Amino acid sequence: MKGDSIIVLLGPPGAGKGTQAEKLAEKFNLIPLSTGQVLREEARKGSTLGKEAQEIMERGDLVPDSLVAEIVRQRIETAGSSQAVLLDGFPRNLSQADCLEQLKGVRPLCLVNIQVDEEVVLKRLTGRRYCVDCGRIYNFDLSTPKREDVCDACGAQLVQREDDREAVFKTRFKVYREETVPLIEAYSQKLNFFAVNGNQKPQAVFEEIFAQLGEVDREVDSPVMGSEQRTG
Ligand code: AP5
Repeated sequence: MKGDSIIVLLGPPGAGKGTQAEKLAEKFNLIPLSTGQVLREEARKGSTLGKEAQEIMERGDLVPDSLVAEIVRQRIETAGSSQAVLLDGFPRNLSQADCLEQLKGVRPLCLVNIQVDEEVVLKRLTGRRYCVDCGRIYNFDLSTPKREDVCDACGAQLVQREDDREAVFKTRFKVYREETVPLIEAYSQKLNFFAVNGNQKPQAVFEEIFAQLGEVDREVDSPVMGSEQRTG
């Protein structure tokens, strides 16, 4: 992997993008960006962006491309030209991929698709809770708290993300199928694209990504989803 790469984590809601992003950022000293996390922070702060995004996120739809593109632009600029950036949750459709092509300049892209079955991600997300105080994540499959709905680390309350309710998950997964799957199909034609089996334990998924990233040191190929190639 080249030092100025942009690594993109792809996959359905609950694939484990955030979990792997944390491990990868630490291991490779990457500048991470989760667009979902930034939007949730903005919503908590009550900023104009957050207010606009919150309602859309709570019903499981995508926030307008222009808003998320601006977040990504700022993070890539801040990173400087020699630091690798890790994108979790962007791009999510072909139009955002076009935008990333513009923003990335000459940086090579490295595309990691975490493949997980729908019934597995549904179980993961409906079982996910986070601590309202310290933000620690629990999953009833992986790390059950000692006392129900109480954070082991700080004793604060554990709650469910609004968009992890089953009805909203269905919308998120539909949006994934309609918007993101075509992007993944286009990306799969690129040289530095690889898929990993996300149905395994987090450490096994990480080891698969780690092994693949070690192999990736090739020249960037030409963009496959430039708008000129999608017209007609
Ligand atoms: P975002 O926060 O990005 O949500 P998401 O992509 O749906 O992803 P999640 O955070 O739910 O799951 P993940 O794949 O990161 O998995 P995680 O590691 O957390 O986006 C939220 C919303 O923001 C969107 O719906 C949209 O409205 C908006 N948005 C964001 N980006 C946007 C964009 N580019 N354009 C427009 N709108 C945008 O793991 C999930 C759970 O599973 C956890 O509990 C974890 O502990 C557990 N887990 C993880 N890995 C494993 C494993 N291997 N085995 C068992 N359990 C596991």
